[in-house]
Order: sequence, then structure tokens, then C-alpha cells
Amino acid sequence: MELIERPRRLRKTPAVRGLVRETRVSKSALVYPIFVKEGRGIAEPIPSLDGQFRYSPDMLHVELEKVREAGVPAVLLFGLPAHKDECGSGAWDDEGAVQQALRLAKRDFPELYLITDVCMCEYTSHGHCGILNGREVDNDRTLEVLAKTALSHARAGADMVAPSDMMDGRILALRRALDGAGFSDTPIMSYAVKYASAFYGPFRDAAGSAPAFGDRRGYQMDYHNVREAVREAALDVEQGADVLMVKPALSYLDVVREVKSRFDLPLAAYSVSGEYAMIRAAGKAGLIDEAAVACEAAVSVFRAGADILITYYAKELAGWIDEGRIG
Ligand code: PBG
Repeated sequence: MELIERPRRLRKTPAVRGLVRETRVSKSALVYPIFVKEGRGIAEPIPSLDGQFRYSPDMLHVELEKVREAGVPAVLLFGLPAHKDECGSGAWDDEGAVQQALRLAKRDFPELYLITDVCMCEYTSHGHCGILNGREVDNDRTLEVLAKTALSHARAGADMVAPSDMMDGRILALRRALDGAGFSDTPIMSYAVKYASAFYGPFRDAAGSAPAFGDRRGYQMDYHNVREAVREAALDVEQGADVLMVKPALSYLDVVREVKSRFDLPLAAYSVSGEYAMIRAAGKAGLIDEAAVACEAAVSVFRAGADILITYYAKELAGWIDEGRIG
């Protein structure tokens, strides 16, 4: 055959494949989510998220040692309060689990970058992401408590806050509150494009945060839409977001690509609990090679345009990068 183009020439050896690789993956782009639970002496496995644990603040160092060892630079903290109430007051308690964890982590792991999830659903007795007015989440009253929560996290040492509630105007509300209290240097990573997704199921079991009635479709996005994602991201950019996020990741790679092409801010994608649980379970069942599929999935998120990947596989991915499986 007189072929001019023979793409296989560049696939011959690992070395040449490495040279022509289009997507580079680095540990410096990984964020590991961790659940912090109020109490003492707690390090309990999470049934819905095999391999993941809930830690009380005093035990968190066990996990942070592993994160440091793996070379993962950042964590995203979720709080589980001992008591929930109607308005989620545990969220802005300066002695809450996240706040205590932040102070301890800042002291013992100063090089670790500490991001906090800012939302009400883990703290409210009804499981919705804000203050209720009847059966609806009241947008503007929720902004006040989100702002208080973000401020409480910043005071306790958060390096970055990440609101995940999907209320309108929350980036502006958080920015004003942070600036007003001398935290103008604390960046906001906005869950700008967060879909109402069944992929959050295992997380809601882990956090006990499933809504007691109804669902989150009155504030999280309809997964049929992508132009709406661009509008959401544009609003958050106008309001001062520093980093944008798309969530979930795997079924939304088109959205990642679209947001990346429209905006110049750093872009994170959150590979959520259901994505992790599916790969994990299929791997355990011997149906797929867990590590190989997790690597492939992670690279797809970067290939779609994400700069940052938030994933329950962060520590393992760091190891696979070290081994040269991906990178
Ligand atoms: C809080 C929040 C959720 C997740 C991140 N922040 C749950 C939800 O919106 O129901 C999900 C993360 C995951 O599934 O891994 N609102």
C-alpha cells in the first residue's frame, strides 16, 4: 500500500506515545473530598462509598497523612453535624466539625489547600439546601445563611470556599460577606453548573442529606439543558467567582467543553459519588478493571477541558500518575 499517512507510526512505543500525548494529567490538578463528622474518635467506613470514611476532626489527621503521602494538594471538606435543625444553624457554628477540622488541618498540614463545601443540606432537618418558606427554598433568606457559613469557614482557616446550593446571587452574597470581613483574598469556587442528578445518591446516604420531601429540581439544573449552563456560569463570573465548576462530570463532558470554551476562568469538574460508586462496584464484581476504568474516566474529564478534577479516586489517581499509567 502506498499510504502517506500512517497514524500507527506514532503509537509504536510508550515513549513515542508519551511524546505525542495531547492531554497531560498532573497530581497538582486533583482535589479529594472528605466527610468530617461532629464528635470524637470517629473513623467509620461509608457503606454507600466503599473505600471512603467519615472522620471526626480529631481523627482527620489519619486521612490527611495519606493525602499528603499521595501528593494530592487539596481537599474539599463536607460537614456532618451532630444535630440538624430547620434552618441548618450547625453550618455556621464556629465549633462545627468543618470549622474544627480547618483549624487542626491548618496547624498540622499547612501545605495542604483547604476548600470547603458551602451548603445547607447536610445541616437542615428537611435536607433541602436552604431555608424553607412553606415547601419552597427561600432564595434570599438562604443567601444570608450561606454568607454566614462561608465567613465562618474563612475565619477557621478555609483557603477557598465552594458554594454548592444553586441559589441565585450567592456568589455576590459570599463575595460581599468575605470582603466585608477582611477576606478579600479568599477565592470562591462556584458550583456554577450543578445539575439535579441521581448520581449524588451515594453522597446523600453518606451525609444523610436526602431531601425529606420533594427533590432539588427547584434549584439544581435540568439535565436537558446546556445553554442554561452558560447563563449560570456567566452570572457567577459577573458576581466574582474565581473558579467555575461543572457537576457531575462523566455524563456532562459536553458541558465541561462548552463552559471551557466560553469562559477564561479555571474550570473544575466534580466526578461525583455515583460515578465513583459505579466504577468501584463494577470493579469489585469483576466486570471491569477498576484502575483502568478510573484512569480512563479521569483523563476524559481533562480532555474535555477541565483544569481541576474533584474525585474520590484522587489518592489512587496520584499513585497511577506516579506509576506512569496516565500522565
Ligand atoms: C451539597 C452537595 C451535594 C454534593 C456535593 N455538594 C449533594 C447534593 O446536591 O445533593 C454531591 C457530591 C457527590 O455526589 O459526590 N449540596
